[in-house]
Amino acid sequence: MTPQQIQLVQDSFAKVVPIADTAAALFYSNLFTADPALKPLFKGNMEEQGKKLMQMIGAAVGKLKDLDTLVPILQNLGKRHVGYGVKPSHYDTVGGALLLTLEQGLGDAFTPEVKEAWTVVYGIMAKTMIDAANLVET
Ligand code: HEM
Repeated sequence: MTPQQIQLVQDSFAKVVPIADTAAALFYSNLFTADPALKPLFKGNMEEQGKKLMQMIGAAVGKLKDLDTLVPILQNLGKRHVGYGVKPSHYDTVGGALLLTLEQGLGDAFTPEVKEAWTVVYGIMAKTMIDAANLVET
C-alpha cells in the first residue's frame, strides 16, 4: 500500500460519500447477484446495514495512514463477523461486489490505478479481519 494508493482510495471514496445510500443499495444488489446464498446472513434492516457499512469503510479509509488505530478496529470487526456466519471465502465475493459498485458509482474516475489501489486496500482490510477471526475459538 503506497502513499499514492492511499491518496487514490481516499479521494475516490470522497466522491462516493455524497451518494453513499445509493452506493450501499447498489453494493448489496451486486453482492446478492454474485451469491444469493449470502442473503440469509443479513437479518437486520438493509438500509441501516448499508449505512453502517459505508461508515465503516469511510472510517477505515480515513485511517489508512494510522494503522495502529485501524488494525485493532478491523480485528474486532473481523471477530464479530464470525458470529454473523461469515466465512473467509465470503471476503472475495464482498471485495468483487465492492469493486463493481465503485466502478458503477465512479464511472470514468474509476481508472486502472484507482482499481488497483482499492484492490490492495480491501485485500489488507479483509486479511486483517480474517486473521483475527481465525483466532476466535469456535
Ligand atoms: C472490509 C470488509 C467489511 C466491512 C468493512 C464490514 C462492515 C460491517 C459493519 C460495520 C457491520 C455492522 C455490525 C458491526 O459493526 O459488527 C457489519 C455487519 C455484517 N456484515 Fe460486514 N463487513 C465486511 C465484510 C463482510 C463480509 C465479507 C460479509 C459476508 C457476507 C459480511 C456480512 C455481514 C453480516 C451478515 C453482518 C450482520 C448483519 C445483520 O446483523 O443483519 N461483512 N459489517
